[in-house]
Amino acid sequence: MEKAIRTLFWKDGAVVMIDQRALPLTERYVYCSDYRQVIAAINDLTIRGAPAIGVAAAMGIALGALHIESSTPAALSDAFHEICAQFAATRPTARNLFWAIERMKRRCEECLEVSRGEDDQGQQRIAAVKKALVAEAIRIAEEDIAVNRRIGENGRGLIPDGARILTHCNAGALATAGYGTALGVIRAACAEGKKLHVYVDETRPVLQGARLTAWELRREGIPCTLIADSMAGFLMQQGKIELVIVGADRIAANGDAANKIGTYTLAVLAKAHGIPFYIAAPLSTIDPALPDGGGMTIEERNPEEVTHVGSVRIAPEGIPVWNPAFDVTPHALIAAIITEAGVIRPPFAGGILGCI
Ligand code: MRU
Repeated sequence: MEKAIRTLFWKDGAVVMIDQRALPLTERYVYCSDYRQVIAAINDLTIRGAPAIGVAAAMGIALGALHIESSTPAALSDAFHEICAQFAATRPTARNLFWAIERMKRRCEECLEVSRGEDDQGQQRIAAVKKALVAEAIRIAEEDIAVNRRIGENGRGLIPDGARILTHCNAGALATAGYGTALGVIRAACAEGKKLHVYVDETRPVLQGARLTAWELRREGIPCTLIADSMAGFLMQQGKIELVIVGADRIAANGDAANKIGTYTLAVLAKAHGIPFYIAAPLSTIDPALPDGGGMTIEERNPEEVTHVGSVRIAPEGIPVWNPAFDVTPHALIAAIITEAGVIRPPFAGGILGCI
């Protein structure tokens, strides 16, 4: 049964988020009363997953705006844009981050537009802009949950009763404001009575699968088995997987999709074994300005994520490390992209947004 997870929310002028670094061993919440704490939380993976990063940024920007001390709307606007720029410098691959920043900027501009020519009431107008930004951030979070539920409804028909499903990383409630994208589809299929079994890739190096997806599924009693990433091919070869479903961090106009490192490997394996490979993602993950996956910026993270497991070193001192956080799956390997607007299938002629 679905037990809602409170990934992040706005409370009494603070951004509150479940600490994903501590899961599954400890369930604790982090309170951010300064926008810089939200930036730090995005960078250190306290909050992660592209849609959740977008929501956190929107709330962080609202939090930052609340504390701007400016005497004119123009000064407020300058300080607001400076805060937005700091959020934009956090996680470059997550399209939803930039989508949320743009939305907060639009809302700010709309409110400032209304206030132009009313400088005699400057302080009142500044207070109104701040209030509107908080409301917009909360709306973005609520919409994200509603969008994920629609993704679930649209995708559940692709999941046969009795399916054994492989997923990678965490595209669940924890990666969004709630419910999840790939795990949302699995939740929706379970809710209509389908009996499923989920194989969870551990997802080296940060172990989002072992720590977070396994925690979410176990919490709801959805049958699951944890595997090391290297076991996926053998599992498929043995005929034990009916489909693969994952989330995405950024999808280009032609359907090429960036997701957690290791996703491309799974897509190739799925193709080789004739298994459908699905992506579940909101429209806010689509980057229409990017013609294909070749131009995507792939975040590279701290080598310690590879040389250490937790705080324990597992590799020799000084070993050179390459640690890209994401890879890009070409659209030819994707059986369908499940969005809130419907299921889109290749060849995505004319761009995926034109297929909806
Ligand atoms: O580095 P992370 O944990 O932020 O990476 C997350 C992923 O790759 C998810 O699969 C993706 O953001 C989709 S989440 C709905």
